[in-house]
Amino acid sequence: MTDKKSLIEERVNTGLRGQWYPVAKSVEIRKDRPYGTELLGEKIVLWRDENGALKCIEDFCPHRGAPLSYGEIHDGNIGCRYHGVIVDGEGVVQRVPAMPECALEGRKALNHFPVTEAYDAVFVYVPSVEQPEPPELTLPKEFSSDEWAGFLCTSVWECNYRYALDNLADPMHGCYLHADSFTLAFGSKQDLMELNKTDDGFLIRRVGQVGANFDWTEFEVHPGNMFCFLDIPYPPAAGPGGVFRIIGFVSPMGPRKCKVFFWRMRQVEGFARESWRFLYRAKMEKTHWDVLEQDRVMLEGMPDDARKREMLYQHDLGVSRLRQILTRAAKKQVEAELKVAAE
Ligand code: FES
Ligand SMILES: [Fe+2]
Repeated sequence: MTDKKSLIEERVNTGLRGQWYPVAKSVEIRKDRPYGTELLGEKIVLWRDENGALKCIEDFCPHRGAPLSYGEIHDGNIGCRYHGVIVDGEGVVQRVPAMPECALEGRKALNHFPVTEAYDAVFVYVPSVEQPEPPELTLPKEFSSDEWAGFLCTSVWECNYRYALDNLADPMHGCYLHADSFTLAFGSKQDLMELNKTDDGFLIRRVGQVGANFDWTEFEVHPGNMFCFLDIPYPPAAGPGGVFRIIGFVSPMGPRKCKVFFWRMRQVEGFARESWRFLYRAKMEKTHWDVLEQDRVMLEGMPDDARKREMLYQHDLGVSRLRQILTRAAKKQVEAELKVAAE
């Protein structure tokens, strides 16, 4: 039998349940074709019905297991490409066209997942034993503010999601890994880090440097989701508006795969809003992709079990705190599951 400690470690590695995770851009989920992806190691498929309502079920045909995401949408349901079985958004077999009065019809065969969308992204809820019904999805305050305008950029990285989160909890890498980028080169290459508790999470920041570079990251940990944000001060050459804020969500896909969602926000109003959008598209977007690529390449190059040999130092306070939060939550989930299993 696997001991509790390994179950907890495994849960942290796979990703916490009882969470909302962004899985795609809103525009990618359509009425005319299914979208297959992975979340916490499970294959899922998403689409929209005739009214545009989002649907998400396991990407597994109840007949023989073909990926439903290879199929087609018929009247708001999904039809398997292999032998035509039609399943609805609740995972119930609606029709078996190849076989009259087939007993499969009407059977609830697949799990379906709560799904919603916000600020250009589609979020899926992965239930847990303690939290089968989705809690509220808490969104960054910038999403509901007229003062901020932003763009969503997503990317799939071939590394465990923990590496992407660790990377965000580590502002000190900015002036090294991104030293040749547009703004991240400023500031000193030596510092101490400080960690402070906030109402909803924690703030990790450089002690000796404020407003010069990527100096801090704040994590918000809510009952049903988690995200972080950080600011990158911009020189006047970057056009009108205040700091450039990045809001990051990371979704675990598989053991060595995750999807990062970065909203690139700027506090801009009126005319400045338009010129920021233009400038961003015309000039800045490429620069940002280059920076993200530096992160991706570095994280993908790290071995899966780097944790076993790493030697953390003072700057890794944020990384440690993050791991502690994940481990505590995973422990609660595993204990609740073990309790149910023992009943
Ligand atoms: S496997 Fe899907 S219809 Fe046969
Ligand atoms: Fe980075």
